[in-house]
Amino acid sequence: MKAWLIDELTGIDKLRLADVPEPIPGPGEVLLEVQYAGLNPADRYLAENQYPLKPVLPHILGRDGLGTVSGVGAGVTDVKPGQSYAILRSDAGGTRPGTFAEMVCIPVENLVQIPIGWSGPEAAGATLVYLTAYQALTMWGPLPKGAVVLVTGASGGVGSASVQLAVAMGCTVIAVSRSEAKGARLRELGAAHVFNPADPGWRQVAKKAAGRRVDLAIDNVGGKLLPEVIDTLGDQAKVSLPGRLAGPVPEFNTATLFFRRIRLGGVAVGAYTNAEARSAWVEVVGLLARTGARPLVDRVFPFEQLPQAFEWLSRGPMGKVLLECSRQNAE
Ligand SMILES: NC(=O)c1ccc[n+]([C@@H]2O[C@H](COP(=O)([O-])OP(=O)(O)OC[C@H]3O[C@@H](n4cnc5c(N)ncnc54)[C@H](OP(=O)(O)O)[C@@H]3O)[C@@H](O)[C@H]2O)c1
Repeated sequence: MKAWLIDELTGIDKLRLADVPEPIPGPGEVLLEVQYAGLNPADRYLAENQYPLKPVLPHILGRDGLGTVSGVGAGVTDVKPGQSYAILRSDAGGTRPGTFAEMVCIPVENLVQIPIGWSGPEAAGATLVYLTAYQALTMWGPLPKGAVVLVTGASGGVGSASVQLAVAMGCTVIAVSRSEAKGARLRELGAAHVFNPADPGWRQVAKKAAGRRVDLAIDNVGGKLLPEVIDTLGDQAKVSLPGRLAGPVPEFNTATLFFRRIRLGGVAVGAYTNAEARSAWVEVVGLLARTGARPLVDRVFPFEQLPQAFEWLSRGPMGKVLLECSRQNAE
């Protein structure tokens, strides 16, 4: 089969398309013919050795995906060849071979059915980002009634998922995006207000825009934006931190947390047990059904163009960037 390999953890630019043996499903595993794989910044971080995970090299990246069952290992009785599944959350693309390949083996307990009415690309890239967004929204306990939720990097995979879920939970959503064009799309998703962080006055307007200060911020960006986000928060507000696309925070004054008793907390989707991830996924699908929202697919790249797909992702997507892996399309 064809697969994209990395031979060393020195960067995503070292990806190499190769012919490798088809994987054989072990006990409890399912062999999937991958139809679509989702790209995530985590793939790049792993390739740059910025993650604690140390996969066996050469390694196949790709955390997310959707595929059709073409074989099963010992003990697997409840899935049948020809059925399609999405990958919920697994070690695929981390410590075991991932989805940037024509075939992948996944433990059966890490598979989920495709929600009714969702297309293949919509389902392929959804699980990781929606579970992350759900954790970021729920990790502090119930949100106050009529909560104001601010999301940075709002156009990205986690950001757009956070906007959609927060809207479905009845929150007023403030989205922060560097792009005017994507701002318009974020309003269509239900964001009540959209701010460009390049506008020096954005925080002052954001503090008043929703009639009260922000109760929960989900910050995907970090860097110099985090102290600005903290400035918009109300008393006892929380900040959920999934990512830091703009790098470390250059200057941070802990006194900005004292008087409003603000709490910051890291998000780790990998900390969900399989049972927690399944239960969170049921909640996610239910919330999206409530508003009729569906995962946003920004662009699907052909299998041969994974490097170009990563380049596209790094510029800031509107939703998910995907790779089409189906065999007939790869030839
Ligand atoms: N902790 C976890 O469990 C977990 C799980 C999933 C993801 N993550 C992390 O969460 C972050 C977001 O992931 P994602 O999948 O949403 O990423 P993404 O799809 O690449 O989108 C991120 C968005 O952030 C903005 N952005 C990108 N680079 C930026 C920069 N240098 N400065 C300011 N804004 C920038 C862009 O929005 P605009 O162009 O609209 O500004 C972009 O659309 C990443 O760091 C990822 O690694 C963590």
